[in-house]
Amino acid sequence: FRVPEPTNEPVLTYAPGTPERSSLQAALAIARSREVDLPMYIGDAEVRTDKKIAIHPPHDHHHLLGYYNEGDRSHVQMAIDAALAVKADWDALAWNERAAIFLKAADLVAGPYRARINAATMLGQSKNAFQAEIDSACELIDFLRFNVYYMAQIYASQPNSGAGVWNRMDHRPLEGFVFALTPFNFTAIAANLPTSAAMMGNVVVWKPSENQVYAAQVIMEVLKEAGLPAGVINLIYVDGPMAGDVIFSHPDFAGIHFTGSTPVFQTIWKTIGTNIARYKSYPRIVGETGGKDFVLVHQSADADVVCTALIRGAFEYQGQKCSAASRAYIPQSLWPAVKDGLIRELQTIKMGPVEDFENFVNAVISEKSFDKIAKYIDQAKKEAGVEIVAGGTCDKTQGYFIQPTVLRVDDPQYVTMCEELFGPVLSVYVYDDADYESVMAVIDKTSIYALTGSVLANDRYAIEKALAGLRNAAGNFYINDKPTGAVVGQQPFGGARGSGTNDKAGSALNLLRWVSPRTIKETF
Ligand code: NAD
Ligand code: ALA
Repeated sequence: FRVPEPTNEPVLTYAPGTPERSSLQAALAIARSREVDLPMYIGDAEVRTDKKIAIHPPHDHHHLLGYYNEGDRSHVQMAIDAALAVKADWDALAWNERAAIFLKAADLVAGPYRARINAATMLGQSKNAFQAEIDSACELIDFLRFNVYYMAQIYASQPNSGAGVWNRMDHRPLEGFVFALTPFNFTAIAANLPTSAAMMGNVVVWKPSENQVYAAQVIMEVLKEAGLPAGVINLIYVDGPMAGDVIFSHPDFAGIHFTGSTPVFQTIWKTIGTNIARYKSYPRIVGETGGKDFVLVHQSADADVVCTALIRGAFEYQGQKCSAASRAYIPQSLWPAVKDGLIRELQTIKMGPVEDFENFVNAVISEKSFDKIAKYIDQAKKEAGVEIVAGGTCDKTQGYFIQPTVLRVDDPQYVTMCEELFGPVLSVYVYDDADYESVMAVIDKTSIYALTGSVLANDRYAIEKALAGLRNAAGNFYINDKPTGAVVGQQPFGGARGSGTNDKAGSALNLLRWVSPRTIKETF
């Protein structure tokens, strides 16, 4: 069978007067006017418990969107059992039948579910309409369609044979179940982690972030409507460490598909290591983790291009992209123009709730996150070697709002130049123009993460030097662009060092982690 050749889903504009804007506003109004009671999906059951956890929009935390039902250890065990119970049937289903389910899911998101899933992402995760559209509509659709295409290529890829011999490759799913553990910041990633493993014939237990349940629920409804058999993906709302406790001690644990923070991934890896003798096979450990993404500016760059790359790279979705530009290195000769440009642009940017489509900046995800970021900003205000160039105000009265903040630091190893804050804070180090190459060495040395990075320059020698000098400091490297916004099928995404196993989400490389190939030789 040939599967359709995918193209990237076009991004809708949501401009005033467009039909997509009206349907999104209607979906937002419906979501705000009713209280949901979100169940877990385990096997063919919708499971509700006595433990109801309230869901509030981060930009309006007095408003109640409803509740989700939190499970305990027994629900984790039930989800594993439900997955294993359907494993043989799912594995036996022809791959093209599996493909049809995920292609239909993509069409459902592109059509009837688009407004609903975007509204859920906007309200639950405080993303503005544009950020929701590129995530919960376009990227999610692209993941499904491109992965189906890569899946077909993987199954078609077969070894050579000669006269009297026929060699085959049987791309078996992993023996056991896969655990998908997903973050709050991208609905598309939350959907991709369980579906990519399931697509390759695996059964999955999926635990989303407690800050992303609202959109996770819509993903599950889409998959059900697309015909995903019960038990293939089991969605549970449980405490992360407790789920880990049950899952990582289970003999049928076959792999983890994780995206989240570096410390959590390291804890998980250690736990898996401790339990290694319990498992039937060595589990697949795939994790995309934190970032401290850089923008290196050369004196030949255009100041306006620098300002746009920094504003969009650092402040879209409040800096809560793993790829966000959170540290910039700017030559002395360009700094006055860049500083003026940043201040001027930031004065025009609007911050507020997602329901007002004019707001570029919305709230950070939670009170915990707000308090952590505010603490870094408060500390920076007290430092002699830090200048608050813009922003610096935090207010959690109505929602968790942090003004886009630019810090100029004297020390390139200052804490905000090295640690992941995951908020709208950009730290800038201004270097002497002659030090371009030594500043690269500083970037590399301080890159305990290596996810994304950019070089902005018009001088081709400077670009080439950055490509070589920063070769290992980023898994996704951008020339004359912001370091965010990778597109499925165009820029496979992932980083190394503390940023993950670099199995490139949305690529055949990632899908290959979810199969255990068997080589077959037949002699005639
Ligand atoms: P997180 O690490 O706090 O949580 C991720 C998931 O792990 C959640 O479902 C959470 O409930 C669960 N969890 C937390 N502690 C756990 C534990 N001890 N045992 C088992 N499960 C546990 O991450 P987050 O705040 O949801 O997401 C933000 C982080 O994700 C940032 O560090 C960001 O850089 C990273 N991220 C990376 C990528 C990438 O592609 N590299 C993409 C998106 C996000
Ligand atoms: N795909 C997201 C980005 O590149 C993570 O910003």
